[in-house]
Amino acid sequence: MLSPKMEEALNEQIKWELYSAYLYLSMAAYFEDLGLEGFAHWMKAQTAEEVLHAMKFYKFVNERGGRVRLQEIPQPPTEWESPLACIEYALNHEREVTRRINNLMSFAKEEGDHATEIFLQWFVSEQVEEEDSFGRLVNQMKLIQDSPQGLFHLDRELSSRPLDLNLLAQGLA
Ligand code: FEO
Repeated sequence: MLSPKMEEALNEQIKWELYSAYLYLSMAAYFEDLGLEGFAHWMKAQTAEEVLHAMKFYKFVNERGGRVRLQEIPQPPTEWESPLACIEYALNHEREVTRRINNLMSFAKEEGDHATEIFLQWFVSEQVEEEDSFGRLVNQMKLIQDSPQGLFHLDRELSSRPLDLNLLAQGLA
């Protein structure tokens, strides 16, 4: 059974994961507008991943006898100064998500809630990957700087990210 405080903290994290999905969809729309379809595709795949993250929390709260209570999701930004500024914004957002996962982990330890601690371990590893993939993208974009050709090639490369809708369907089932 979850403590009321832990239930509240996990519900807050569901909001953050859904906000992440909303933010990356907003970034997809930004890239779509710039004609960078590979970047837009990559962001849509990331959106699906964030919905999956939210659903992992949703299922866990239910399994532990808690109640999911959805909260208001803030409006994400819709414009960025440049594609690089957009990806840097995403990287900083992921760092904030990591901070929140770490706080949740500390709270679970404090409460002696071992089941939540074990559940959160997956997210601790996931955040390492998330920061790494956004960080690598920032570095690649810094390398190509203002080269339209470089941006074109990177856009093509990003269009190959798999978008597994079956996985998303499983998460929602
Ligand atoms: Fe759900 Fe990108 O962290």
